Amino acid sequence: MAILIIGATGNIGRNLVGTLLESRQQLLLGVREPEQARDIWQFRAHYIPFDFRAPETFEPALSQVERCFFIAPHDNPVPSVKLFLQHARHLKQLTFSSGRTTGGVEGKPLNTIEKMIWESFIPATILRPGWFMQNFTGWIGDDIRGERKIVLPAGGSKTAFIDVRDIAEVAALTLIHGGHTGHTYELVSDEAFDHYQVAGMISRAIGEQVDYLPLDPMDYIKRMMKKGWPRDIAEHTVELYRLVMEGLEAETTPDVEEILGRKPRRLGDFIEEHKEAFK
Ligand SMILES: NC(=O)c1ccc[n+]([C@@H]2O[C@H](COP(=O)([O-])OP(=O)(O)OC[C@H]3O[C@@H](n4cnc5c(N)ncnc54)[C@H](OP(=O)(O)O)[C@@H]3O)[C@@H](O)[C@H]2O)c1
Repeated sequence: MAILIIGATGNIGRNLVGTLLESRQQLLLGVREPEQARDIWQFRAHYIPFDFRAPETFEPALSQVERCFFIAPHDNPVPSVKLFLQHARHLKQLTFSSGRTTGGVEGKPLNTIEKMIWESFIPATILRPGWFMQNFTGWIGDDIRGERKIVLPAGGSKTAFIDVRDIAEVAALTLIHGGHTGHTYELVSDEAFDHYQVAGMISRAIGEQVDYLPLDPMDYIKRMMKKGWPRDIAEHTVELYRLVMEGLEAETTPDVEEILGRKPRRLGDFIEEHKEAFK
């Protein structure tokens, strides 16, 4: 039977689909725009319309599978995921990618979703990844490329980052092999850096000076709104970095190495591998 992947076009999902296809798994990709997803994966997977905002898409997708991976949608996710879980009771494995700190903070949507999963008694695994290394080539990378700056409301606190490819490999194992049901894994690398150090690492890799500019939350919100971000997204980002400033993202964990049987990918190697993306 195929594995249903929801979020297949996103950062984690793209890597997860790639990893599962390498393992010759049959995949059903639940996507909002099947035609766009088909441009990526062609005939190597099957596609079905799936939208958390359209509950009528839940049953047709879920009824074809016994294993499923999903991430929560951004907008008001709790009611739709609650309904989704009601259609997922037959699953033999559900893997949910949550968030390292927000997954554990009472009242946050990802924490509520984690609780709903455990209360549903669906055999499940919860992944709590830290901040993605890929952010530095993605949305944070715009400032690096444009202004040679990392601009964030992260103060001088350290973060243990994670390479999305490691999240995907762990997720793939939970879906293919048994033994991970009932576990929550904190997925981070085995080192932590503050953003001054990250700027230094990128500078050395590209041979040009990149500085870290720590902003206070209000200045960051103003800056991002000027760049076109909606206020609620800017405020949400500041809220997430408040957890970084409290030091909650700094500790490393052994989880990736214990599951994959090798060291997690490291930020220095990621930067070296992707140095063209900063130019
Ligand atoms: N960025 C980080 O550093 C970080 C760290 C820890 C945790 N997280 C968490 O990771 C998750 C994001 O994962 P990601 O970066 O892999 O995703 P992403 O790149 O932001 O992509 C979102 C994916 O979700 C799909 N999607 C969006 N709304 C949907 C809906 N209503 N119904 C069905 N699918 C929908 C999108 O599909 P379309 O192609 O249709 O748009 C896309 O595939 C979030 O929960 C975030 O809080 C992020």
